[in-house]
Amino acid sequence: MTRTLYLFCSAAPPVFEVAGAIEAAQSRGWDVCLGLTPTAAQWLADSLDGLAALTGHPVRYAYGMPGQPEPWPRADVMLFAPATFNSLNEWALGLTAKFTVGALAQGLGCGVPTVVVPCFDDAYARHPAFGTSVATLRTAGATVLYGTEADPRPEPGAFPWAAALDAVEGAPWVPGRI
Ligand SMILES: Cc1cc2nc3c(=O)[nH]c(=O)nc-3n(C[C@H](O)[C@H](O)[C@H](O)COP(=O)(O)O)c2cc1C
Repeated sequence: MTRTLYLFCSAAPPVFEVAGAIEAAQSRGWDVCLGLTPTAAQWLADSLDGLAALTGHPVRYAYGMPGQPEPWPRADVMLFAPATFNSLNEWALGLTAKFTVGALAQGLGCGVPTVVVPCFDDAYARHPAFGTSVATLRTAGATVLYGTEADPRPEPGAFPWAAALDAVEGAPWVPGRI
């Protein structure tokens, strides 16, 4: 049976590695649907057609129009990586003007297992909003790979795609949690 992974990326440099991450997920048996923030889509503008061909689904970075059919199959799990400081805080606060953040908020609210890998430096992480956002998302059922024994960052500058996909395999299903 096909398992569907929604992969959401925001505008931090590891987004340029997303094709490799998609191929790694596909080799683990996932049908991948790719969602980008508008800024991430701008960064990847030259690659959007290729990424759509790679996944076999439209790359989404904006809400559809009312009445348009849903272009993706239903999600079994969601991965938000890399997650910028901006989008992570928007998600925790429920500020869903962007398609990616709205989809993450709705998925988490429906109990879709969700893994998030923050990607920003210690200066951002020292902002008081960050701890509150992580606590909020964990309470809502998300697996946040940051600052715990599960934090997989092997070395500065390396983004932990493999560990993120490992976490996706083990993400807990939390039905009706919020
Ligand atoms: C070269 C460059 C690198 C950046 N790296 C990061 C980063 O690692 N983490 C982060 O949170 N923001 C980073 N930013 C800032 C985000 O791109 C910016 O906050 C943007 O508004 C995020 O939008 P999004 O969350 O909608 O993708 C970077 C910006 C630039 C231009």
